[in-house]
Amino acid sequence: MARANGKVILLGEHAVVYGVPAIAAGIERGVEARARPAESSSLRIGERRALPGDDSDLGRAFAALLGALAAPKLAVEATLELPPGSGLGASAALGVAIARAVLEETGSAPDSARVLAAAAAWEGVYHGNPSGVDAAAAAHAGCLLFDKINGPRPLTLGRDLILAIGLAGPPASTKLMVEGVARLRERRPAVVDKALEGIRALVGNAKLCLEAGDLPGLGSLMNYNQMLLSGLFVSTEGIERCCGLARDAGALGAKLTGAGGGGAVVALCDGTSEPILGAWRAAGVECFGSAVRGSVGEASVRT
Ligand code: MEV
Repeated sequence: MARANGKVILLGEHAVVYGVPAIAAGIERGVEARARPAESSSLRIGERRALPGDDSDLGRAFAALLGALAAPKLAVEATLELPPGSGLGASAALGVAIARAVLEETGSAPDSARVLAAAAAWEGVYHGNPSGVDAAAAAHAGCLLFDKINGPRPLTLGRDLILAIGLAGPPASTKLMVEGVARLRERRPAVVDKALEGIRALVGNAKLCLEAGDLPGLGSLMNYNQMLLSGLFVSTEGIERCCGLARDAGALGAKLTGAGGGGAVVALCDGTSEPILGAWRAAGVECFGSAVRGSVGEASVRT
């Protein structure tokens, strides 16, 4: 049995596609997968079934992953604990968990570079231009700084993070949202590049806040990041409403997480997630809490 995490991006989504660093954290809800030898390869995720190379995205992604691992014929079953299209890394977690299950079944070492390469092949089908941050966060626990050149680097936290995650909805396509920002950059390069540089500065300061345990500072930076994301037209009324509810209930900061256009909001809590989860539930928002502790490798995550 193999597992991978879902993730939240605390700062830097979209900008990370253009080489800016992002800060992500693995969450405990994720994907469980197992593989067993079979006469022909197949994939089942809950009620969904695919064969490698059939005309579905799932079949194409499965074929790309098996090809990247030069895998023999395997029947793979996966259980998804995350809502898909919510920005919580469901697709990357599937890629990482299935790659790990394939390596486990074939008796190969769970080599992280092979897992990430296979997950990138899987993600490429859904996404077109993934930065790799989702797969890196799916493969690690704890908090990490990620950029396209250096890959993931663990961050040691000065204080644990208590997060509340709310589904602002509706599900959105990461591919379409990333394409939307690319089109905006073609039309208004100066405006978008200024936003990207702003996000770079916020991420740099957020790293210092995380290391120092300055959570109010981190929360403010998340709020500024949300403003810059709104300027890239990836926020929605539902996201702004969830962020507002969280801040009114005492969150230190709140923003969309992932590609936006719907999906999830992450709020940084001051000690407890209960007031924020309570406010969201009262407004009919599906939500859950998650804590991020320590650094990559030794970290634990809890929902
Ligand atoms: C999606 O979780 C994060 C984006 O930055 C896309 C990516 O980095 O691949 C929107």
